[in-house]
Amino acid sequence: MSTHYTGLIERYRDRLPVSKDTPVISLGEGNTPLIELRNLPRLIKKEVRILVKYEGLNPTGSFKDRGMTMAVTKAVEAGSKAIICASTGNTSAAAAAYGARAGITSFVLIPEGKIALGKLSQAMMHGSVVIQIKGNFDDGMRLVQEVARDMPVTIVNSINPFRLQGQKTAAFEIVEELGEAPDYHALPVGNAGNITAHWIGYSEYICKDTQACALCKGKCGFHKEPRGAKRPIMLGYQAAGSAPFMRGAMVDHPETVATAIRIGHPMSWNQAWKVKEESGGWFGECTDQEILHVQKLLAQSEGVFCEPASATSLAGVLKDLERGAIGEGSTIVCTLTGHGLKDPDTAIAQSTRPITVDASRGAIEKVIGENMAG
Ligand code: F0G
Repeated sequence: MSTHYTGLIERYRDRLPVSKDTPVISLGEGNTPLIELRNLPRLIKKEVRILVKYEGLNPTGSFKDRGMTMAVTKAVEAGSKAIICASTGNTSAAAAAYGARAGITSFVLIPEGKIALGKLSQAMMHGSVVIQIKGNFDDGMRLVQEVARDMPVTIVNSINPFRLQGQKTAAFEIVEELGEAPDYHALPVGNAGNITAHWIGYSEYICKDTQACALCKGKCGFHKEPRGAKRPIMLGYQAAGSAPFMRGAMVDHPETVATAIRIGHPMSWNQAWKVKEESGGWFGECTDQEILHVQKLLAQSEGVFCEPASATSLAGVLKDLERGAIGEGSTIVCTLTGHGLKDPDTAIAQSTRPITVDASRGAIEKVIGENMAG
């Protein structure tokens, strides 16, 4: 039997809305590492098991590839020749890459000056039509919906239901690796599609009754074999400057260094509240300073480099461990939604400058002497 991995649609074909004739557009997405943190729990002196789901290792460097393989596959199946999205960067990178793979045109609307450099380079390099708007993500999302009403373009934002179908597979992978759902699952929340998708995934995994399942109405094809009854408590963390779920209302001028989640009018508003209620979870917020601190802490204590928005999940968990909201002995999964290389400017701005010396042995030895640990 071949062990060649060909992406999440093939792997979870029986749980996704595809047929044998569906033309699958894949770049080998999914199957990302679930890395147990070794040093950080010791540093914070807590008896907990924290695992990070490193979604930055998807083909375009973020979890968006999970949704995009499904959205573009279904768009092509329906005969669409063009896709469109609004984006804070990662969705545009994924739409650009999967659009290229499918041989269709992609239009991406991004907030001018507010997307990380790596993401912009991806959209440009894959040949998207990149439209910078003098507005924020929420303006872009509104415009995309208006335009798609009259023009032959398929929206590939998470309001496209196939996106969430693809993204739910991250939950399948976690349950399969751990043998059951974790106690807590933490995610950064922007548009709130991903937290919704994970809950669908966890719920379908335990769903026993094909007829009665309210979530999938028996369509997920995954009901024959119940796999235990556990679902995690879902935790959604936002950046303090763009935290509509904390305010309980939309935010008109969101601001945060974590540009990926600089969103004030989340599309999956109702769904995310439902996830909170059903899972017994909560929302939390982290300041930009806390987010950047944890991004660096993770990079330097564990060797895992994620982008600022992604660090929000871990930053929120560390705060909730500290205040006792999450108990010791828990197993916690934090999704790291995007790779740190997406945003080199923010990484460099908070790191120690390189040391410049003469090209001499003496100069190098001096630096080593001065910087040797212990
Ligand atoms: N983390 C990263 C790195 C993201 O790019 C996003 C969303 C999120 C978290 C939040 O996920 O929206 O499902 O709650 N990025 C979108 C984009 C909006 O355009 O790339 P969500």
